[in-house]
Amino acid sequence: VELHVSLVGRKHLTSEIYRQLRQAILDGRLSPGERLPPSRELAKRLSVARTTVMVAYDRLTGEGFVNSRVGAGTFVSHDLPRPASAARDTGSALKPRPFWAAVTIPNVFARPAEFDFRSGIPDATLFPYATWRRLMTRELRAPAVGTGAYGEPAGHAGLRHAIARHLGLSRGITAAADDITVTNGTQQALDVVARVLLAPGDRVAVEDPGYPPARRLFASLGADVVPVPVDREGLVVEAIPRRTRLVYVSPSHQFPLGMVMSLARRVAVLQWARAHDAAIVEDDYDSEFRFDGRPIEPLQTIDTSGRVIYVGSFSKTMLATLRLGFVLTPPSLSGAVRAAKHVTDWHTALPAQAALASFIDEGWFARHVRTARAVYQERHRQIVATLTREFTGQLEVAPGNAGLHVCALAPALALDDVADVVSRASAAGVEILPLSLYSAGPTPHCGLVVGYGAIPTDRIAEGLRRLRTCFE
Ligand SMILES: Cc1ncc(COP(=O)(O)O)c(C=O)c1O
Repeated sequence: VELHVSLVGRKHLTSEIYRQLRQAILDGRLSPGERLPPSRELAKRLSVARTTVMVAYDRLTGEGFVNSRVGAGTFVSHDLPRPASAARDTGSALKPRPFWAAVTIPNVFARPAEFDFRSGIPDATLFPYATWRRLMTRELRAPAVGTGAYGEPAGHAGLRHAIARHLGLSRGITAAADDITVTNGTQQALDVVARVLLAPGDRVAVEDPGYPPARRLFASLGADVVPVPVDREGLVVEAIPRRTRLVYVSPSHQFPLGMVMSLARRVAVLQWARAHDAAIVEDDYDSEFRFDGRPIEPLQTIDTSGRVIYVGSFSKTMLATLRLGFVLTPPSLSGAVRAAKHVTDWHTALPAQAALASFIDEGWFARHVRTARAVYQERHRQIVATLTREFTGQLEVAPGNAGLHVCALAPALALDDVADVVSRASAAGVEILPLSLYSAGPTPHCGLVVGYGAIPTDRIAEGLRRLRTCFE
């Protein structure tokens, strides 16, 4: 590595070389035993006389920082003198806003598990890697990359058209590609929407229990995030507080409880938004994995007042690590959302967008979703059957027929009991998350979220058998 020494604007060249080399030794960029560049070479690189460098080296030698061996060179000493100057504190002067002290990055997925019932991720072994690699390779050839100039913030045109077609076929949504912005997952879709619609202090209503990353995101932008209860029909619309500017909901498959928002509630929340001049963000995160095939009208298609922002993700249908999602906005917001995307990160990685466009257009996406849906449906069936049969009195399966997890309520247990079950399960090799993790209000919900994205079908029976013993 070429050691960085800068003499730009410096007068005392020898002192400057001495000071910068000494600092590099003290802070470990040059380690004991490492060879300094030969004085002739460094002098040439810095465009100074060789003696200027030699005097600096002599001074470092005199102070014990380096020693010279004739014919071999100048080396950093193994016994370094302690610096004479006062200890420097370069690590703690700047402080983040207090908000960030409360944000922890979940590392639950980093821990491998023998029986993994943690929710949130699809089965990565089902992903068609060979096809994806082929499509990505095509996009990483010079003709496809072109000039390498930045792209359109709203995203790859082909992908936006592919998403519009996909939404039309699978969700009955009439979407113009111009109103779609490709994002780095749902999370960034929420970010750009919030930037466009919310000022610090604005109120955002979220479902309780609900999706913590969304709550944290709105709060990080200074919003007043208010949890609103859900019942068996979905969000309790009468409980939305006054002066709410944005309502964030997951109507197709409430996260995490799993119920479908009733048509009456859908109509009610749309009426509420119209009456209170509010926006609705509809998170349709896993609607591709419905097992009963019953079509559910997205809020977006029932809305007649241009108040619904529809957000979709490829984290469940493809891989969460690809960080690909999108937002479909009413035309009144599309320009600003595109501008917000430009301001935050310019645009999502183009080769992956182009590959996804081909993946959808060439039929791979539909095929993969079909295969994955059949696998998840079987896991869902097994889990619901076993929970219903073997966990009577302890767990009640919440209604829901979609996605990558089922919720099991534990009305007879206290929160501490559930926590005990979770830790006993972990000791028995079974990782599972408590429902209380998703609560936002004062009374956390008691139960377990049983994910089946990560657990192979043939391990479900033994995993649940072990979980069963943790209740005894
Ligand atoms: C409710 C909900 N929305 C969205 C997502 C996907 O988020 P992203 O697209 O940012 O990966 C998830 C993933 O677990 C989710 O549970």
